[in-house]
Amino acid sequence: MAYLQTDVTKVTTRVLQNMKNRGEKIAMLTAYDFSMASLLDRAKIDIVLVGDSAANVMEGYNTTLPITLDEMIVYGSSVVRAVKRALVVVDMPFGTYQGNSKMALASAIRIMKETGADAVKLEGGEEVLESVQRILSAGIPVMGHLGLTPQSINKFGTYAVRATEEEEAERVVKDAHILEEAGCFAIVLEKIPAKLAARIAQEVRIPIIGIGAGPEVDGQVLVLQDMLGITLQFKPRYLRVYGTFGEDICNAVRRYITDVKSQDFPNEHEQY
Ligand code: KIV
Repeated sequence: MAYLQTDVTKVTTRVLQNMKNRGEKIAMLTAYDFSMASLLDRAKIDIVLVGDSAANVMEGYNTTLPITLDEMIVYGSSVVRAVKRALVVVDMPFGTYQGNSKMALASAIRIMKETGADAVKLEGGEEVLESVQRILSAGIPVMGHLGLTPQSINKFGTYAVRATEEEEAERVVKDAHILEEAGCFAIVLEKIPAKLAARIAQEVRIPIIGIGAGPEVDGQVLVLQDMLGITLQFKPRYLRVYGTFGEDICNAVRRYITDVKSQDFPNEHEQY
């Protein structure tokens, strides 16, 4: 079937499951635009997450709550147009799936139809089970997200590490099993003790992707702007920074300003 053929081998949920089964770690990063997503795909990232962290790094909000479904669809479709190989997951924004499962399905269908993404991600366990089941029943792959769930920041009151007490830790374990049994293809665990994350990755069969959840999980995710050194003020303990792009961009812009003001740019080769 020609319409299913491409010259690249696409990462699918099945590929990710096989990676977990053979112990190969999964690398996931966020992206929100065409240019960055093209670079991530060229570098052969396994999963591109169009995270609702776009509310913070693209739109400048303090929380992820204000971002809308329409905005996520613009970011999602920009990323999908760039990506040939990676699995693209789009976050369901706050308020688009918690209300009831019909609303959740309608939101997920809009994301899949209007972005062309491969899957959706949503936050929560048992409390969103009905929504998860309904989305899955429409054939839409769902990635779960447990531990620190930023859409619940007003309930938590802090972005500190979650599940340090036994009761909450056991709830996270239970929710991971619930999401697995419902049919989620993977779960993100954010900012929980490494030992707890390792236990969950052992107990559930589906891939567990960690952010601030230690090394003994099946993969890692970071926000692109954080790991590139663009969000200079954000320095959580779990973050490893792989570049100085914030400084590099400022320096490039400073040089440009100097060249414009000194009339060095454009020169005779840079005109018609
Ligand atoms: O929105 C996001 O970027 C996320 C990751 C932190 C997992 O959910």
